[in-house]
Amino acid sequence: MIGRLNHVAIAVPDLEWAAETYRRALGATVSAPVAEPDHGVTVVFVELPNTKIELLEPLGETSPIAAFLEKNPTGGMHHLCYEVDDIAAARDHLIAKGARILGDGKPKIGAHGKPVLFLHPKDFLGTLVELEQA
Ligand code: CO
Repeated sequence: MIGRLNHVAIAVPDLEWAAETYRRALGATVSAPVAEPDHGVTVVFVELPNTKIELLEPLGETSPIAAFLEKNPTGGMHHLCYEVDDIAAARDHLIAKGARILGDGKPKIGAHGKPVLFLHPKDFLGTLVELEQA
């Protein structure tokens, strides 16, 4: 079921500084910031030859990454995103295996315009997992 690693996401307190760190220190190509009000984040993507890094900054009062940044004030790895062919089939399989889907269990449209779901970190080795329909 699990496919390619689509991206690794890092929550950061200052997106401009984070993007500049990847540009200047690592020589990376970094996209322009995109506000995702439905997800409570502003995002840039670092393009790598084999995957992407998603840098996330809180957006709005109820950002889902605000509590994470309180615990990790300098930023930290927030989630891994794996591709799946059929997100509804993946969700049904995971629920049947006892995994918990965050939120109402319905896929939302993610930062790449494709359906995504998040899986409870306690079910996946302490790591928040995003599934994206490829
Ligand atoms: Co993501």
